[in-house]
Amino acid sequence: MSIDYDSYLGLERLLSAQNLRSVEFLRPAHDEMLFVIVHQTYELWFKQILHELDSVLDVFKAERVGEEHMGQVVARLERIIEIQKLMIHQVTILETMTPLDFLEFRDLLYPASGFQSAQFRLIENRLGLAADKRLFYGTGCYRDALASHQQQTVSAAEQEPSLFDRVQGWLERTPFLRTGSFDFWHAYRTAVNEAFARDEAMAKESPHMNAEERQRNLDTNAQNRKLFASLLDPKAFEELREQQRIRLSHRAAQAALFIQLFRDEPVLQLPFRLLTSLMTIDEQLSTWRYRHALMAKRMLGTKMGTGGSSGAAYLQKSTEAHKIFGDFFMLTTFLLPRSQRPPLPEAVLKALRFQF
Ligand code: HEM
Repeated sequence: MSIDYDSYLGLERLLSAQNLRSVEFLRPAHDEMLFVIVHQTYELWFKQILHELDSVLDVFKAERVGEEHMGQVVARLERIIEIQKLMIHQVTILETMTPLDFLEFRDLLYPASGFQSAQFRLIENRLGLAADKRLFYGTGCYRDALASHQQQTVSAAEQEPSLFDRVQGWLERTPFLRTGSFDFWHAYRTAVNEAFARDEAMAKESPHMNAEERQRNLDTNAQNRKLFASLLDPKAFEELREQQRIRLSHRAAQAALFIQLFRDEPVLQLPFRLLTSLMTIDEQLSTWRYRHALMAKRMLGTKMGTGGSSGAAYLQKSTEAHKIFGDFFMLTTFLLPRSQRPPLPEAVLKALRFQF
C-alpha cells in the first residue's frame, strides 16, 4: 500500500493539536502559538529520549551485558546528549516572547504546569533520580500533579531498576578488579596518599593564600583523605552510603574509578565512554533545569508557578538537588596523572588489550 508524506507523519492530527486557550476565550494572544509549539516539541523530544533509554535499559537487563551491544548503547546515549543540547538551546526561542506578552494569556493556563509532564518524570525515573532526593513543593509528592493513569506508569518506573541501578550492577561485575597476587588498591592507596600529601604541603606553604583560605583547603584535603580511605574499606564505605553521602556500591565505585584510570586500554574504551555519557546526560539535564529556571525567573520574577510551587526559586533549588550520577563526578577527586598510576601486572594488561 502506498503512503504519502502527510499520512506517514500523521500531520493532520499533529498540526491540528495547537488549541489556543486565548482564541477559545476570545482574547487571541499572538505568542500563545509559540508557547504551545515549543512545549509540544519538547514533549516529542522527551518521547525520543525515552525511546533511546528504553532500548539501553533492555540491553542492561541481561544477566551479562554482551560486549557487542556496547557500541550501540554508547551511540544511543550520545544521541540523547545531542537532543539535550537542542533542548537547552530551544529555551532561547521561547524567550523571544516577552514577559508582558506571556501575561496576555498566562492566567488562562492555571492550574496546568510543567509539573504535569509525565514523560519528564519518566525520564528522571528511568535514569534513576532517587525518590528520596526529590524536593517537595507545596504539600504533595511530585506524582500527585499527574493524572491517575500517569501516576501508575510513573510509579512503576520509580520501582523498576533504573539506568543507575543497571549500570551499578554491570560495574559490580567488572572482572579486572581482581588482579591476582598484585593488590592494585594497596599500590593505588600509596600513590593517592602521596598526592594528598603534596596538596597539603602546597596549602601549608603557598604564599598566595590567606589564613582562612589555607584552612579551608586543608579541611577539604582532610575530608577527601577520609573519603578515599573509605573507598578502600568496604565497611567504612557502607557507613557513607547509610549517611547518604554516596549512592554507588563499594564495588561499583571501585570499578568506575578503575575504568576512568585505565580508559586508554582498548577493552575499557567503550565502558569509559559509557560513564562519560552518563555524566554528560546528568550535566545537560542540570543545565536544562538551570536554563529553564532562569527563563521562569525572567518571565515570572518572584511570582509563584501555575502548578503552585515557589516558581523560579523551586526550579533553581532542584537544579542542585536533582542529580543522578553525581558519584561519578566525585570519583574524579581520586584520579592521578597517568605517570603516577601504579603499573598493572602483565596478565591484567594482556586481558585489557586485544590479542591477535
Ligand atoms: C514561559 C515559559 C515557562 C515558564 C514561566 C515556566 C515556569 C515553570 C514553573 C514556575 C515551574 C514550577 C512548577 C509550577 O509551580 O508550575 C515549572 C516546572 C516545569 N516546567 Fe516550566 N515554564 C516554562 C516553560 C516550560 C517549557 C517550554 C517546558 C518544556 C517541556 C517546561 C517544562 C517544565 C517541567 C518539566 C517542569 C517540572 C520541573 C521539575 O519539577 O523539576 N516549562 N515551569
